[in-house]
Amino acid sequence: MQVYLTFDPPGRAREMLEQRFEVAGWAGPGFAPPEALHDHLPDASGLYCTITTPVTEALLDLAPDLRVISQCAVGVNNIDLDACARRGIKVGHTPDVLTETTADTAFALILAGSRRFREGIDYVRDGRWESFDMNLLIGGDVHHSTLGIVGMGRIGTAIAHRAAGFAMQVIYTSRSEALTPYGRRVELESLLAAADHVVLAVPLTEETTGLINADRLRAMKPTAGIVNVSRGPVIVTDALVQALQEGWIRYAALDVTDPEPLPGTHPLLALPNCLVLPHLGSSSSQTRAAMAELAAANLIAGLTGGDMPARIA
Ligand code: GLV
Repeated sequence: MQVYLTFDPPGRAREMLEQRFEVAGWAGPGFAPPEALHDHLPDASGLYCTITTPVTEALLDLAPDLRVISQCAVGVNNIDLDACARRGIKVGHTPDVLTETTADTAFALILAGSRRFREGIDYVRDGRWESFDMNLLIGGDVHHSTLGIVGMGRIGTAIAHRAAGFAMQVIYTSRSEALTPYGRRVELESLLAAADHVVLAVPLTEETTGLINADRLRAMKPTAGIVNVSRGPVIVTDALVQALQEGWIRYAALDVTDPEPLPGTHPLLALPNCLVLPHLGSSSSQTRAAMAELAAANLIAGLTGGDMPARIA
């Protein structure tokens, strides 16, 4: 059986796959371009990919023998799951192994955004630091503040766990009625009105696309900030630019953006109160290897008749 890898995976993933299958894969930097997919998908039984490959009906048409798609990410918004279901293609993903690392990223963004670290780093780098200054780059406190988590799933819960160490009050929205050990479940409007830091940890769905629009940004406190570790399109980017320019909110700290990648000339990048990372949420050596290996295990089980450790569809 042949499997196609759209990127060079870290850890032992390739070795695991090579022990069982004929492996073809994109070896260059980044990820497989459309021409490579056109060349390899016609013979592939398995596709090992990540968020950079839009798995559409048209792509599936290229792959008549495809039986399993293994996504090396927890989010699967790049995959048309209905089209996969119609063709009987199983889909795996990588939940759990990245939860704690992504929660670390969210917390780093809360701290860096709130305490204006981007501006501080620029200040030193630009040679403007001449003396200690009691009034320099004063930010907002994180400890004892109110954290609003939009989406209390696995990652949201891990963020709330960290917030306890900072003596923060946690409020959250959740689709599920089930209570978590942390904080108080509220409606989105109350969360936006009360939180000092709003963290987005929802999956991207039809319902969450554009969730944080101009009205919702205006509903936040002018001293509050927003952190996004979910997907860029959860925030309406133009509205966020206006919110930061006009002081509707104090800061934004984003691991994900819309569009992604964000062009170097984008207005968000010119705003001192906005900090942008290139989608590094799960990017620790341990976690990226664990994701790659879980994705390999999903593909192996899916193609050899076993139970996929993390099947989403
Ligand atoms: C990364 O964004 C993921 O969904 O794992």
